[in-house]
Amino acid sequence: MSGLEKTSNNFFVRNQTLIAVTALAGVSAVGAYYYYAQQQRGLSGDSSDATGSSDGSSKKKKKSKKNKKKSAGESGEDASNEGAAASSSEKLYPIGEDGLPNIGDEIVEKLSDKEKESWANALKEDGNTEFKAKKYNEAIAYYTAALKIKVDPVFYSNRSACYAALDDHEKVIEDTTAAINIKRDYTKCLLRRATSYEKLEKYGEAMFDLTAVTIDGGFNNKSVESILERVLKKKSINIVEKMMDGSSFDLPSASTIGSFFGAFTPDTNPHGISEESTGADKFLFDAIAQINLNTPEGYDNADSLINQAVEAYDITNLDPVSETAAKASIALEYASAFKFLRNDPTAATIEIEKAIALKPRARTYVYRALVNADKASFTQALADFEEAKRLEPNSADAYYQLGQLHYMSNELQKSEENFKKATELNPENVYAYVQLACIAYKLGNHEDAEAKFKSCKSKFPTSPEVPNYYGEILTDKGQLDLACKQFDTASRLQAALPVFSVGALPLINKAYALSKGGERSPEAEQLLIEACQLDPKSEFARTTLAQIKLQNEDVDEAIKLFEESAQLARTFEEKVQATSFAEATKMQKKIRADPYLSEKINELLRSQFA
Ligand SMILES: *[C@@H]1O[C@H](CO)[C@@H](O)[C@H](O)[C@H]1NC(C)=O
Ligand SMILES: *[C@@H]1O[C@H](CO)[C@@H](O)[C@H](O)[C@H]1NC(C)=O
Repeated sequence: MSGLEKTSNNFFVRNQTLIAVTALAGVSAVGAYYYYAQQQRGLSGDSSDATGSSDGSSKKKKKSKKNKKKSAGESGEDASNEGAAASSSEKLYPIGEDGLPNIGDEIVEKLSDKEKESWANALKEDGNTEFKAKKYNEAIAYYTAALKIKVDPVFYSNRSACYAALDDHEKVIEDTTAAINIKRDYTKCLLRRATSYEKLEKYGEAMFDLTAVTIDGGFNNKSVESILERVLKKKSINIVEKMMDGSSFDLPSASTIGSFFGAFTPDTNPHGISEESTGADKFLFDAIAQINLNTPEGYDNADSLINQAVEAYDITNLDPVSETAAKASIALEYASAFKFLRNDPTAATIEIEKAIALKPRARTYVYRALVNADKASFTQALADFEEAKRLEPNSADAYYQLGQLHYMSNELQKSEENFKKATELNPENVYAYVQLACIAYKLGNHEDAEAKFKSCKSKFPTSPEVPNYYGEILTDKGQLDLACKQFDTASRLQAALPVFSVGALPLINKAYALSKGGERSPEAEQLLIEACQLDPKSEFARTTLAQIKLQNEDVDEAIKLFEESAQLARTFEEKVQATSFAEATKMQKKIRADPYLSEKINELLRSQFA
């Protein structure tokens, strides 16, 4: 969860992207797109990642408890045998001075097949007894002796259990690999090897084994699926941590920035700064003008102009009661906003605190509230809103953003009150009206929502936001044809505007609506390709296109798109999500390249459609 999402007005889009992932995955071939089904389940239930992982670990706990109970039961039956292996006097095979089997090559050569069978079995049984007595090194000696007489995957498996108990994962992998080489669908060994791979942080290898188990089990093993999900997540987190390590923070797509600034009362010439101003004031004036352009280049320019302004104001030498201090505060406020948009909350906090220390205005506190909400410091965020309203009781920005905060925490009543107030104070903020219509819809007042969208449309006839968000609601209601019409209108209005506004959102939304029916849609693909061109920084466009590419078996293209989305995504969680899609797709490719598993999948598919 992050504050920016709360303020970016992509409220339904976000939700919808999650749904899009689900829907597109649903139509893919069984099995082959197994991972998407996985992700889907995670997404559709609850978007919170935290619950997913804690769920996984509690399952694990339960499982290990069950295992313990089982082995306790077994050793109960064998209680009389405890420690018997070493003390029993009558052994088929020779014992060395250490009390362990001592079987030389010459002896083995002389054994008949029948003797080999019974010696090996006896050794295995004695190994099991030692194992139950937790004498793992002794057990290993028995299984090793058994293997000397007969190469049996069970003995490798048994010995690997000892190594697992001793936490010797390299050895576990060696023995389970030997067993699996003999018996490809040896579930116990595949699972054990996966666990060791996971312990050694070889997540890709672990995923391969776990997938093999799920394929062998006909995709019917929920407990393996949850392990797989956990390992996939670990691997993705590893990749994202490396990706973010030392990397700079990029600005998000212009439509995200646009909806962020678009919800604020526009600044033009605070404190009388103008085209004629010089020095720091001129930098600030130009930066604001560039922001008001609402274009990708404008935002890039504004970003660097703001930094120049901050530098030029030289805040260390400012008189805090001067008008210059107030202007410097505004520059710092914008600097903070850009850092915030780059998802660099630490830097954003530093800048906003400097702004507050100088000569803050209401909006300075509103920005700090957003930074605080982003850090989940909601009490502080609420205090900031109070401070903003104290400084400026009619701050439309304070009411609007407070409305957003309540909306995101699902306090719809409070949210509605604040948005209403925001529309009174700033009747030009289209987002506040759209939000009110969405609240009506969320509260189940569908007719009221329709009416609100209608009046919105007559009030803002050229705003692509209105049909775009109305279309999202129609999509949610399943009225896909009507929704597509709204998205077409939104695209047309967007194309006619000099500003970026909703950008590629209507195209993405329409593609989603088109593929919601479950059929492959070449038009959806075309729309998404256009969306990627129109808004090259939109990770939504890429993720959605990637899934269509997957349906068309264009795996390499899908991987590339997922990886690009991971780069573009703003938050850590979103990056992990996109990365896990990429990694899952790579795994799918690896599975497909394996003749044994590939054939298994084909069998499954044939039986599904038989
Ligand atoms: C050895 O393998 C047998 C057969 O799979 C099994 O019943 C036994 O529990 C195994 N022992 C250990 C220690 O894994
Ligand atoms: C399902 O997975 C568990 C391990 O999580 C395993 O013990 C069990 O044998 C698996 N079942 C099948 C049918 O493969």
